[in-house]
Amino acid sequence: MARKAEVSPATVSRVVNGHANVDPVLADRVRRAMNELGYRPNAVARNLRRSRTTLWAVVISDIGNPFFTALVRGVEDIAQRSGFSVVLCNTDEDPTKEARYLNAVLAEQVAGVIIAPSGPQTDLDQLAAARVPVVVIDRQLHGSRIDTVLVENEHGAELATAHLVESGYQRIACITGRRGVYTASSRLAGYRRALTAAGHHYDERLVRYADFRSDGGYQAMSELLRCQPRPDALFVANNLMTVGALECLVDNGITVPADMGVVGFDDLPWAHLVRPALTTVAQPTYQLGETAGQLLTERIATPDRDATTVTLPTKLQVRESSTRRPGPSVGSDPVSD
Ligand code: RIB
Repeated sequence: MARKAEVSPATVSRVVNGHANVDPVLADRVRRAMNELGYRPNAVARNLRRSRTTLWAVVISDIGNPFFTALVRGVEDIAQRSGFSVVLCNTDEDPTKEARYLNAVLAEQVAGVIIAPSGPQTDLDQLAAARVPVVVIDRQLHGSRIDTVLVENEHGAELATAHLVESGYQRIACITGRRGVYTASSRLAGYRRALTAAGHHYDERLVRYADFRSDGGYQAMSELLRCQPRPDALFVANNLMTVGALECLVDNGITVPADMGVVGFDDLPWAHLVRPALTTVAQPTYQLGETAGQLLTERIATPDRDATTVTLPTKLQVRESSTRRPGPSVGSDPVSD
């Protein structure tokens, strides 16, 4: 390569590693020689000298969840623009699987990690000790001084529940995620705050802790339907559990919104297409991923900068599923799937 470009091997190395201080004429000769020889820099070899690959590990719960799909897309678009690639790790909300993945990304010498922690037990100390750049996304790790990107979970849940109160519902239930998971507890807190502000009694019997999955939402809804008196409205803390709860309502012939008002956290692509259209709390999901990618890029470039927490706004999308019509429901079909 050096001979073909008529430069020194050191010049070839500086061009391959993207150093700025190379004579443009020499750099051009090296790039032309690389093209003629079909040379592709060995990313791992190049970066082993820097003891890092050009990979980011994105550790999330479940890529099958539309929320994480859009989030990862936002991360990857920033990674590509910054010269990095993304490897995906699904933890399935399982702390043991998550720990295995964290050991693997340490061993693989990734350039950085973006993680939605499965719970408060998530341990990032080994990554910190190895000075691996990390950004926490979607769920905060209390007490950590790590770059973090969140949304206004509690405020979004509070607005959703206050909306159900204003719509005239009296016995408002909540299906949230597993105890200890940041988004589950903060959304439950918003639900509780709205009930208290409206003078409604907070009744633990109207709260179910599920698993952020549709089956868990279905099971929780079927338990709530057995409460006496039955709830007349429901706030659900994520998209997949909302789907499960709606399926349960259809199976039990419960009409929405007349018998049961429903608001779900996380907007869904089809939320405005079903009848009645679903009221949701929308998260700027793609922007969450983009922001985490930008923070990681900055952390890689300046490892000792102060930790940053960015909190993005949510938006209550009021549709038909939470606005009880006066009197018996006319023409309101059971929730259609
Ligand atoms: O759907 C998974 C949920 O957990 C989302 O609401 C997201 O915020 C994550 O925390």
